[in-house]
Amino acid sequence: MVGVLLAAYLLGSIPTGYLVTRWLKGVDIRDYGSGGTGATNVLRTVGKGAGLTVLIIDILKGMAAVLLIKVAYPFIASAFQSSIPADGWPWWAALAGLMALVGHSRSIWIQFTGGKSAASGFGVLLALAWPIAMGAVVTFAVVLAISRIVSLSSIMAALVTIGLMAITGQPLPYLLLAIAGGLYVILRHRTNINRILAGTEPRLGSRKTSS
Ligand code: G3P
Repeated sequence: MVGVLLAAYLLGSIPTGYLVTRWLKGVDIRDYGSGGTGATNVLRTVGKGAGLTVLIIDILKGMAAVLLIKVAYPFIASAFQSSIPADGWPWWAALAGLMALVGHSRSIWIQFTGGKSAASGFGVLLALAWPIAMGAVVTFAVVLAISRIVSLSSIMAALVTIGLMAITGQPLPYLLLAIAGGLYVILRHRTNINRILAGTEPRLGSRKTSS
């Protein structure tokens, strides 16, 4: 199982935003805008097409990490019956999701830097509990429509995800993942939070960048 968790980390580690920006603009995305490798920074540094491409691939990375466990778990559980319970996969799926989030923001390929894990977190959520993911995306869209601040929208979506997991009685591993992953995503946004409080966080559509 450790190997599968490592694979989930490596999936999350694929530095999509870094690679797309390198290929299209020949620059290191980490030297621009917020310095993050996520879709938002690619959008403001390269453009809409590149940002959307990175967003989709980063979501798919998160989904793939969970689906990997869904596929591999039955085989591993039957091979190691004595030590791995057949119905234990939700715990491993939650762990794999967390590994993918950490991989995205601490990528082994780019000196353990990366993005803020919102898109990959959404992918994990989509694969684990899609109705909750819908709640998160609606929250994101509403906050973005009102504020035009992506980071604020990601933070609110993370908070709502934790709340929805709790009130809809999801399995304990999913709730714990939502709490750990949600708090991790919020923590990754701490420079954004400082800028939001200072009133300097860039809004979608503005040309201003931040460091
Ligand atoms: O998902 C990341 C987003 O919430 C903020 O990105 O580049 O504005 O820090 P960025």
